[in-house]
Amino acid sequence: MVHTDDLREKNQDAPGAVGWRSRLRQAWRTLRGDAAPVADGALPLSGGAATPSQLQVIESLISGLPGPAIVLDGDGRVLAYNDAATSIAPALRRGEPALISLRMPDLVDAIRRAGKRHERQRVEFFERVPLDRWFEAFVSPVRLGQRGDPTDILLLTFNDLTPLRRVEEMRADFVANASHELRTPLAALLGFIETLQGSAKDDVVARGKFLAIMQGQATRMARLIDDLLSLSRIELNAHLRPSTALELAPVVRQVVDGLQMLARDRGVEIKVTVPSEPLTVLGDRDELVRALENLVENALKYGAAGKRIDITLSPAQTRAGTPEARLNIRDYGPGIAPEHLPRLTERFYRVDVADSRAQGGTGLGLALVKHVLNRHGGRLSIDSTLGAGAAFTIHVPLYTGDSGSATETL
Ligand SMILES: Nc1ncnc2c1ncn2[C@@H]1O[C@H](COP(=O)(O)OP(=O)(O)OP(=O)(O)O)[C@@H](O)[C@H]1O
Ligand SMILES: [Mg+2]
Repeated sequence: MVHTDDLREKNQDAPGAVGWRSRLRQAWRTLRGDAAPVADGALPLSGGAATPSQLQVIESLISGLPGPAIVLDGDGRVLAYNDAATSIAPALRRGEPALISLRMPDLVDAIRRAGKRHERQRVEFFERVPLDRWFEAFVSPVRLGQRGDPTDILLLTFNDLTPLRRVEEMRADFVANASHELRTPLAALLGFIETLQGSAKDDVVARGKFLAIMQGQATRMARLIDDLLSLSRIELNAHLRPSTALELAPVVRQVVDGLQMLARDRGVEIKVTVPSEPLTVLGDRDELVRALENLVENALKYGAAGKRIDITLSPAQTRAGTPEARLNIRDYGPGIAPEHLPRLTERFYRVDVADSRAQGGTGLGLALVKHVLNRHGGRLSIDSTLGAGAAFTIHVPLYTGDSGSATETL
């Protein structure tokens, strides 16, 4: 049996449900006859049908609930449900036994238990179709009507646990990926140390060769940790928009100058086009340099076969008409298959893990670019056709104001 005080306490279980608590109390008083009556007397729910006005009270009550809610009468038939409930049980029909429309066995068991024991039951269940979704359900017996003439109904409320589960999964994946990426170079380092202590102890030539490899592996680990720290720092500051006005053309030149050596190594020619007028954004120079560096480096590493890269800075407008700066990095290499495009900015996601590793990559570059651009109120768009190269475009809102910030140029 559930009393009003119990209900108040139990409502705490539903996050974000503050608004409906007072409505629930009001309707409760109404149903018990403590307030202006909207229904005539007790609800004869058990074994009988509610009058239209009585049902109206229940319907308006559950329509105010934030999540799916279903009310069953004492015979286990569906008395009422709100719109959200149809997303969980599309087959719900008023007057039909709940067991027909609610096919989740754990939920059905909980309904039976709640009816038998007159105690609230909590149950978790998982839906596979049409998408993987997790729910928790509360089945609460509620006693209505006058004292001495009670009627029991069951209130079913649901919380969607899917976003919570996804975050948990992502966190577990992240830890597994990060540990794996660190373990690989670490294992190589340990192997070489052992060899240098043992069989190659007095081999001067081997020692030189091994030390060079060890340095490469240690650098890789340092870079991975550096990238992870940058990512978490950018995420921490995600809500803080940069406030320094920054001209973009010098940023492009700085990055291209820094990567000329790699371009020469790979036999790639970089062509830069910037507009004659300055394009200014509110930005963090280091972060934008880092983001652009990764895009140009990717083009040089994965698109080298095309022998050239075009980098174009231009003014443009968003669909909503807001002025923005666009920075397009285009290569003419092998391109990326369409199925990979939506996942490219996930941490550690790589099209070809072996190829990326061989180039010293960790798969964090594009995740970093995405977070940097989010913080700048911008975005990244990717356009690629297999066999015809890839184009990555940075979009950042243009800064048009003229006070409060110092312009930063090279
Ligand atoms: N221009 C490109 N052409 C083809 N594939 C690309 C291109 N840019 C990125 N990719 C693919 O996207 C993957 C993810 O890129 P990302 O920059 O996030 O990681 P990475 O370059 O492998 O490692 P890191 O950037 O940490 O050095 C790459 O491994 C590569 O498979
Ligand atoms: Mg990269």
